[in-house]
Amino acid sequence: MRVTTADIRGYKERRERFACLTAYDVVTARIADEAGIPLLLVGDSLGMVVLGYENTIPVTLNDILHHTRAVVRGTARALVVADMPFMTYHRSAAQAIESAGRCMQEGGAQAVKLEGGRATADAISRLTAIGVPVMGHVGLTPQSVHQLGGFKVQGKTSERAKELIRDALTLQDAGVFSIVLECVPSEIARRITERLAVPTIGIGAGPHCDAEIQVVSDILGWVPSFVPKHTKPYAHLADAARDAVTRYRDEVLARSFPGAAQSFSVSEEVLREVDDALSNLP
Ligand code: KIV
Repeated sequence: MRVTTADIRGYKERRERFACLTAYDVVTARIADEAGIPLLLVGDSLGMVVLGYENTIPVTLNDILHHTRAVVRGTARALVVADMPFMTYHRSAAQAIESAGRCMQEGGAQAVKLEGGRATADAISRLTAIGVPVMGHVGLTPQSVHQLGGFKVQGKTSERAKELIRDALTLQDAGVFSIVLECVPSEIARRITERLAVPTIGIGAGPHCDAEIQVVSDILGWVPSFVPKHTKPYAHLADAARDAVTRYRDEVLARSFPGAAQSFSVSEEVLREVDDALSNLP
């Protein structure tokens, strides 16, 4: 049975912490699912970590649908949340309903995530009223990177911190089942977490949130040249992959790969007949 949004809320009711991850492909999704991660986000971070864009702005709804289908195919248990990309829910509640519908019907997601606080609350209310589970996202909202002036910690002044708290409370009233707090000082995240009945899921928000989410390629060490302060590599897959590819190339050049173990054989009789046929060719 898949994890439900009620299960996610239940973690907070029981004061039980949980770990979430992003996922973009079937292999990673399967590993995370088997490891017991209850919620996988097909984040629009895929634009940066999979598609090579500078930020998440160019990601399209079709990109998210394509990767959501893969993650759904790779999971039996995890709740799969599709991240709604830039400008797929900003124009109107009708556009938000259309985009969320595609994430669920075509992508197979069980929930969607929208960035933004009070400005997004109307669209979120309309979605939750018609039965679409929504995860909120406040603090550093990467789709607003150009307005925020970069990927910066949010809520550092008392004014901005109070706005963040108002945003989070408004999203809860709009019916979200959880809220991502991204790059927020940990004492502000603690206060938001204590005020909310729905779980907060931190990334760069310190240890006091109800749960944590990380970008999977960061914790696997896929991009060692850039390790954000809020993450930590638990493996060094880029180094392991570079080493593997280099050894493969060297063995191919030295003709030590493929060897007998990777080769297929035929019987002596077949070979004799082939050689006879070849010798009779003009
Ligand atoms: O797109 C993403 O990966 C996200 C997480 C950072 C929460 O929004």
